[in-house]
Amino acid sequence: MNIVILNGSPRPKGNTAAMVAAYREGAEAAGHTVIVFDVCRMRIAGCLACEHCHQKNPRACVQADDMRLIYPALDEADMLVLASPVYYHGLSGQLKCAIDRIYAPGYPRRLRKAALLLSSGSKGVYDGAIYTYRHSFLGWLHLEDMGVFTAAGDQNKSHELLSQLREAGASLADPDDHNVPRLVIRCGDVEVKAPLNQTQAARDLMNRLPLTVVGHDSGVDYCCELKEGDFDEDEKQQGWNDGDISVVGGWFAILHSGQEESAAYRVMVVAHLEEKDNELVRTLPHDTTFGLSLEEPWHER
Ligand SMILES: Cc1cc2nc3c(=O)[nH]c(=O)nc-3n(C[C@H](O)[C@H](O)[C@H](O)COP(=O)(O)O)c2cc1C
Repeated sequence: MNIVILNGSPRPKGNTAAMVAAYREGAEAAGHTVIVFDVCRMRIAGCLACEHCHQKNPRACVQADDMRLIYPALDEADMLVLASPVYYHGLSGQLKCAIDRIYAPGYPRRLRKAALLLSSGSKGVYDGAIYTYRHSFLGWLHLEDMGVFTAAGDQNKSHELLSQLREAGASLADPDDHNVPRLVIRCGDVEVKAPLNQTQAARDLMNRLPLTVVGHDSGVDYCCELKEGDFDEDEKQQGWNDGDISVVGGWFAILHSGQEESAAYRVMVVAHLEEKDNELVRTLPHDTTFGLSLEEPWHER
C-alpha cells in the first residue's frame, strides 16, 4: 500500500516527528511504501477559492507552489496520514493549508484509508482536530478510519506511545474490496451497485456525482449522453464484458449484452455489475432515466 503522511509540525525533532517516524517504521517493516511530507518546510499557500480546479481545469490547482510535489503522491496513495501538533485546539495552520488544497483533486483516485496522529501539551484537547478528520476525511473523502493516536504531555516520545505507533503501522493491511467505493444506479424501483475501479475516468465520474442521465436501450447497451470528462487514453481496454459500465466519448453506457462481438471496440470501463444486476438492467424499459450517485458512507459497510 502507498501511504502519504503529511506532517504539520514545524519542529523537525519534535513530538509529532517522533510519532510519524514510529508509524512509518512499522508500516515500512510491513512492506508498505511511505512518503512523508514535512509541510512546514514546504511552500504551501492557502486555497484561493478561485474554483479554477472545478470550473476551468478539473483537478488542477492554479497555484504553482510545493503542493505540486504532494499532488502526484496523493494520486498514487492508498492511505493518507495526517500528523499534527495541536494548536489552539486544532490542526497546525501549515497542515490546514495543505488540507484545503486537496480541494483541487477532489477524490484522489486510489485513496481508501486515513489515520490521524496528534501531539499536544495537555490532555483532552483533540475535539477540533478530530472533528475535521472525521467529517472532511472519513465523511467527505469517504475514507476508512485506521485510527486516531494522541500523545499529551509526558506521553510524547514515551516508549509506550512509540511502540503503539510502530505496531499500528505494522498492522496495516492492503485495501480490500470491502473499501471500494460503489456507484449506485437507480431507475424507478430498481437499484444496482457496482464497485468503481481505479481509472482516472472512474475518479472523474466520482467527482461529478450525483448525476442524472437519460438514454435508451440499443439492444447491446443503455446509452446515455454524458458530457466528456477527464480520462487516461492508456486505461481504455479492448472489448467489454456484459455488465461493464463505461464512460467516454460523451457517453455513459451500461454494456449489458454482446460481449462476444465486443472485441472490435476500445472502451473505458469504470465499473462492473454482477451478473444478477446485469440481468435486472436488461429488464428496464427502452427509454430510461438513471440516477447515478456514490454509495455513502461506504466505509461503514
Ligand atoms: C501555537 C501553539 C499552540 C498550541 N496550542 C495548544 C493547545 O491548544 N493545547 C495543547 O494542549 N497544546 C498546545 N500547544 C502545545 C503543542 O501542541 C505541544 O507542545 C506539541 O507536543 C508540539 O508538538 P511538536 O513537538 O511536534 O511541535 C501549542 C503550541 C503552540 C506552539
